[in-house]
Amino acid sequence: EQQTEYKYVESDMLDILVRSRSRFSHKGTYGHIALIGGSLGKMGAVLMSSKAALRSGCGLITAYIPRCGYNILQIGFPEAMVMLDSGEEEIKDFNIGFDYSAYGVGIGMGKDEETSRGFGIWLQSLDENTKLLLDADALNILSENEQLLKFLPKNSILTPHPKELSRLIGEWENDLDKLNKAKDFTREYQVVLVIKGANTAVINPNGEIFFNSTGNAGMATGGTGDVLTGVITSLLGQGYDALDAAVLGVFIHGAAGDYAKGWVGEISLIAGDLIDYLPSAFMDLE
Ligand code: APR
Ligand code: MG
Repeated sequence: EQQTEYKYVESDMLDILVRSRSRFSHKGTYGHIALIGGSLGKMGAVLMSSKAALRSGCGLITAYIPRCGYNILQIGFPEAMVMLDSGEEEIKDFNIGFDYSAYGVGIGMGKDEETSRGFGIWLQSLDENTKLLLDADALNILSENEQLLKFLPKNSILTPHPKELSRLIGEWENDLDKLNKAKDFTREYQVVLVIKGANTAVINPNGEIFFNSTGNAGMATGGTGDVLTGVITSLLGQGYDALDAAVLGVFIHGAAGDYAKGWVGEISLIAGDLIDYLPSAFMDLE
């Protein structure tokens, strides 16, 4: 049995991590990320994820979505660029190109048969150095097609909520059992797991665990996970390594939630509030 290391993440560990922007930098310095997802009735996931990503400092963002989402994205968030899949209500082609500094996949995507097939083919075509985050239905497709797991680029970030986690690693008996199964998973596939919930745990490919200290129960509301996907993908696309992007992103996301709680309270908090308070959370670490 290997000795497990646990760390509790607080702000003094992170302000040294946050990079300041050079006076002579330009948008190309901060990466161009792609967020892939959306389907009829779930375009809000991509919208919120895109806003959160740009608020988290990346230079450019392209949202890759099915055709029905075009107006929603362009009107809802003019700062984002949009690239359309040929699918009307769901993505099926994943014809996005390989030039992005990071990819965040799965938010509001659905797992229609054609979407699943397209995702599998795309995953197998990726370069081993691709910076990748998978969330929501991208994870569910992986769980239903376990032969795809071996194609994940090393240090990919997976951000399951408890249900999505159990589909990936199987049911657990208690919290210790859950963490052990999760560690086995990160070691086997050499990925970073972000186990979402109160005190979100980030586990690196060595099985080291980082428990988050920020956030509150007001965040138990639809869309907050989509915001997290935008934040972490943005950091990944700026060149933070996968573990740093995950640990920092989870902390900032929770800190934005704590600011939002101070303004609207836990009961009224909604996902969009997190986006509004990302600036406050980042300024504390700048
Ligand atoms: N305390 C602190 N943080 C919390 C708490 C809590 N009690 N409850 C939830 N959170 C945080 C989690 O840590 C996570 O960052 O809120 C976020 C919730 O993420 P998700 O569970 O992914 O929720 P959501 O954004 O609504 O997901 C959207 O995608 O996962 C799919 O099908 C799923 O409909 C869902 C959709
Ligand atoms: Mg989610």
